[in-house]
Amino acid sequence: MLAAAVFEKFYYLFPQAVAVIGVGKNLMPAAWHTPVSAEPPLYGVLISPKRYTFELLNGEQGFTVNFLMHDQARLIAKLGSTSGRDIEKLTHFKIATEPANKVDGVIMSASYGVYECKKYALHEYGDHFLLVGQVLCIHIDEEFLREKGFVDERKVKPVMYFGKDRYLTIDPDTLSIHKKD
Ligand SMILES: Cc1cc2nc3c(=O)[nH]c(=O)nc-3n(C[C@H](O)[C@H](O)[C@H](O)COP(=O)(O)O)c2cc1C
Repeated sequence: MLAAAVFEKFYYLFPQAVAVIGVGKNLMPAAWHTPVSAEPPLYGVLISPKRYTFELLNGEQGFTVNFLMHDQARLIAKLGSTSGRDIEKLTHFKIATEPANKVDGVIMSASYGVYECKKYALHEYGDHFLLVGQVLCIHIDEEFLREKGFVDERKVKPVMYFGKDRYLTIDPDTLSIHKKD
């Protein structure tokens, strides 16, 4: 039976896919991110002003959003427990990257998909800022495509975060397809 509960971190009620945000040469994992508009294609990421990433955004016009698989969870945990203020994460963690095409930033080579975004808006909501970017281009590892425009749900194992250092992924055997009437 549902009952009123003490649930301080209300956002730990469900797991969220993790993306790694690249600003300049720094990388920061984010669990709070979402599409905002289909046309124009806009993508939003919630960033705390405490992050070095937030500071870097002042000097940059763009950023990358890197989508990784569950086997990268350990690296994500490291990227999320260190700051670019203290270490150069790319060299410290020996991360393979390539330069983005349209923005001044890096792409993580281990990603199965990446957005390159141009800064579109930045608004404050409580203790985070919603950074919205216009998606200028998308990179996809073709190995994970099922057909044009769709990723293969049997191959992509997105890294998801359930809070309190807990990472998991999806079980494709739960896939069910329900056509609209
Ligand atoms: C799985 C995970 C998800 C996170 N999600 C967010 C997020 O959505 N927004 C945010 O501001 N910080 C988030 N963080 C915290 C930052 O990634 C973390 O503070 C990081 O060290 C900031 O790096 P920076 O100082 O180099 O920018 C998350 C951390 C982890 C491990």
